[in-house]
Amino acid sequence: MNIELGSWDALGALALPVRLAVFVQEQGVPMALELDEWDAVSLHAIARNTQGAVIGTARLLPDGHIGRMAVLAPARGQGVGRTLLHCLMDAAHKRGLTQVLLSAQQHAVPFYERAGFVVCSAPYLDAGIAHVDMRHTWTTPSPPTTTHPGS
Ligand code: COA
Repeated sequence: MNIELGSWDALGALALPVRLAVFVQEQGVPMALELDEWDAVSLHAIARNTQGAVIGTARLLPDGHIGRMAVLAPARGQGVGRTLLHCLMDAAHKRGLTQVLLSAQQHAVPFYERAGFVVCSAPYLDAGIAHVDMRHTWTTPSPPTTTHPGS
């Protein structure tokens, strides 16, 4: 599996078909709710399988919210979601954020708990789907960025 990080301009056309398949077709989320203004300002991640096909995506908003975590159904249970999540968590940590937050569908809570997230809200409905807020906080600062001695 290969992960790419980039802007919506760079990766949106690759990420969108996965989001449409998972959220709109599979889960019935209205198209109008699926696309929003945050895509343009978020860091996006896509996962490709060994054949180069895009099988998963997620995004990191500037304020540290991770969202739109989606893996195509046939590719689930193989570590794709975990890898996407950890890549975006690392990106947030390297930006100096001390915590990342997300709105988790209730069924996915154990998936996020395995990555160190804890539930921090009562359940609520979003797009007709039960959600809870979850948070991951780092207790250590992000590692220093290694720079070339001559830079
Ligand atoms: N319930 C319980 N555990 C789950 C789980 C679930 N729904 N989904 C994954 N896990 C566990 C796995 O068993 C694995 O555990 P391990 O570390 O002990 O082996 C770990 O979480 C990582 O799983 P992984 O294979 O990386 O997850 P995935 O690639 O299947 O992706 C989702 C997980 C939730 C992203 C994927 O199921 C998905 O796209 N679902 C539909 C869209 C969705 O609901 N997105 C979340 C919105 S909040």
